[in-house]
Amino acid sequence: MKKNPKLNTTIEDIRIWKKNSSKFAALTAYDAAFSRMFWKEGIEVMLIGDSLGMTVQGKSSTVSVTTKEIAYHTKMVRRGAPMAWLISDLPFMSFFNLDQACRNASVLIRAGANMVKLEGGSWLCPTVERLSERSVSVCGHVGLTPQSINIIGSHRVQGMDSSSYRRILSDAKSLESSGIQILVLECIPNELTYEISQSLSIPTIGIGAGPSTDGQILVMHDIFGIDTGLSVRPRFVRNFLSESGGDFRKAISLFKESVRSGDFPRSDHCFRIGSGKVRDFKGNF
Ligand code: KIV
Repeated sequence: MKKNPKLNTTIEDIRIWKKNSSKFAALTAYDAAFSRMFWKEGIEVMLIGDSLGMTVQGKSSTVSVTTKEIAYHTKMVRRGAPMAWLISDLPFMSFFNLDQACRNASVLIRAGANMVKLEGGSWLCPTVERLSERSVSVCGHVGLTPQSINIIGSHRVQGMDSSSYRRILSDAKSLESSGIQILVLECIPNELTYEISQSLSIPTIGIGAGPSTDGQILVMHDIFGIDTGLSVRPRFVRNFLSESGGDFRKAISLFKESVRSGDFPRSDHCFRIGSGKVRDFKGNF
């Protein structure tokens, strides 16, 4: 993927991957040892996600994670992968007004992030505009937004009925107009992912959103089949570690190559509107 491995990965590289239809794999990362291994195996985009509340801290949701904690993990990930494109999550309630969003984004950028990610729809447009005009690169996140767990009730596929389908599509378009440079699509049906990816000119990264995105991201614990005790294991994940005979490096490389070749996600890893009913992560109605 990289012509010169000594160069930093930039937003321009990611745009070129999209333009060339070259699918890319991304992973969540929380520390230096794993980010170093991910980079060495060719993972150039990493997310310091607020999923760390569940995967690292063992909590039942992401809502208690703070900007300070994301900054702490961003510093570690940056040490392990000095040249990767790092996206750091602005956690729950850390962007409830414009000034607070700017202040917390600057904490994450100073910690080593290239880009900050915010969960939510078109209500975020003024925030995205403000951050972008102040030179902060912003990633959107629509579909299943785990920071809204206390409103939505469970980690459930979104956009299956026509009104939420239309809302998510319109959110994606408004966020792009406001200045986001990448959009994460989480747990939405294939049909919606396809329509969003066709309508937008920015790169999209999917998780449980089918094969039509430019990139795919998974939570690192899920590609290794690590049971974090509390979090649910979504049915769209694949245990690349067991497929690689327990070799971590091979598992990362297999994940990357499977995304690149279109072997992951397969159609049985996707949600489809045709299934008629709304399923949760485990595939239950
Ligand atoms: O926090 C996180 O890890 C995320 C991914 C699931 C996309 O937002």
